[in-house]
Amino acid sequence: MPHITVKPFDTSVIKEDRYLNTQLLFKANDLDSSDEIIGVEVENEKFLLCLKKSKQNWLLKYDKVTRPIDVNLVKQAIGNISQSLKLDIVNSNINIRKTQTKLANQYEKSIEDFINVEFPFDTVSIEVGFGSGKHLLYQALNNPNRLFIGIEIHTPSAQQVLRQIELQSIKNIWVVNYDARLLLEMMPSNSCSNIFVHFPVPWDKKPHRRVISPSFLDESMRVLKKNGRLELRTDSYKYFWYSLDVFLGENVSKSSLEIRKNESLEVTSKYEARWLKQEKDIYDVFVTSLQNSPKRDFDFDFSFDNIVYKNKVLDKITKKPILFDGFFFHFERVYRVSQSAILLKLTLGSFDRPEQKYIWMDNSMSYYFGSPPVKTLTNYKAHLKIKEYLNV
Ligand SMILES: C[S@@+](CC[C@H](N)C(=O)[O-])C[C@H]1O[C@@H](n2cnc3c(N)ncnc32)[C@H](O)[C@@H]1O
Repeated sequence: MPHITVKPFDTSVIKEDRYLNTQLLFKANDLDSSDEIIGVEVENEKFLLCLKKSKQNWLLKYDKVTRPIDVNLVKQAIGNISQSLKLDIVNSNINIRKTQTKLANQYEKSIEDFINVEFPFDTVSIEVGFGSGKHLLYQALNNPNRLFIGIEIHTPSAQQVLRQIELQSIKNIWVVNYDARLLLEMMPSNSCSNIFVHFPVPWDKKPHRRVISPSFLDESMRVLKKNGRLELRTDSYKYFWYSLDVFLGENVSKSSLEIRKNESLEVTSKYEARWLKQEKDIYDVFVTSLQNSPKRDFDFDFSFDNIVYKNKVLDKITKKPILFDGFFFHFERVYRVSQSAILLKLTLGSFDRPEQKYIWMDNSMSYYFGSPPVKTLTNYKAHLKIKEYLNV
């Protein structure tokens, strides 16, 4: 990901201003370290850059939480700021490729696009964690009258598939660069025919990061139409048994289960090819939904109403997680923008799929910088508690 290392400089030269196509919105200091954060806007996308200071050189890099999918925007922001301020660059991996194929933007969707979403095709399938996209592209090319929503958390993989969509003029794929566990909660009930989860990361040491979990299964069953199918394919014996345990759980909605071993598919993904070479066993587990699910209401309001920044807020904020029944919030960093404005970095939501966000607070308003949390009931409950907490 884009970054440069520079010789230390006087950061008071960084000012709210336009640096070529980059609008610098604000600069803020971390109250617990010497690090600084810079808010920028490039081509209508607002995101943050971090300035990490060490003794010899400083690192100016993208911020993971607010990064835009088009990595060129981050490169442009870093490039424009460092060039305009004449920073002494020690090292750089910024090579803006101006001639790069424009990403197939109309096929790139954000989570906000799923609020009251309407699909351009009657039949919709989801692929969770498509990686190199081989299976997703194959399915889309072979089923031109179906929509395939590919959800991938890894930005370069999402970009690579968007490039393929452009090159191959594919019209029936939507790419979402997000955590599939959260995005699924935004999908309407009874809207999908298949949810493919092929070779998910087993996360043996961090099971809370696994895609398959009781709540993911619940959401999948809600999102699937009656007779729609969740399709897990894995090479991990442990993950296979773990998933079976989840799928056979006590409170699973009405469904049927099918298991297959070493069944070949028409298309072999990159990961599968690796395991086949090693002659590993491959397991398929299909869970078919046997019921219609109630409609989900997404009418959650993530605004802060009249909550504004007051000095007392800083006295109150603790760095300890604040826990509730099934959800939490945790202020991780506080950045001072000015006497009357701060930026809070926090984690919120459910324990197994928390979200990171920033909250901007000044003396006239407060809001989530970049975008609000995903509209899930758990996030909303956390938001209400955050609002209560910040209302000093
Ligand atoms: C082992 S790879 C398999 C990729 C592909 N399905 C294949 O068979 O080649 C797992 C993929 O899932 C993605 N992934 C992991 N957790 C995810 C999540 N919560 N939401 C979306 N994608 C995720 C990873 O970035 C990675 O690309």
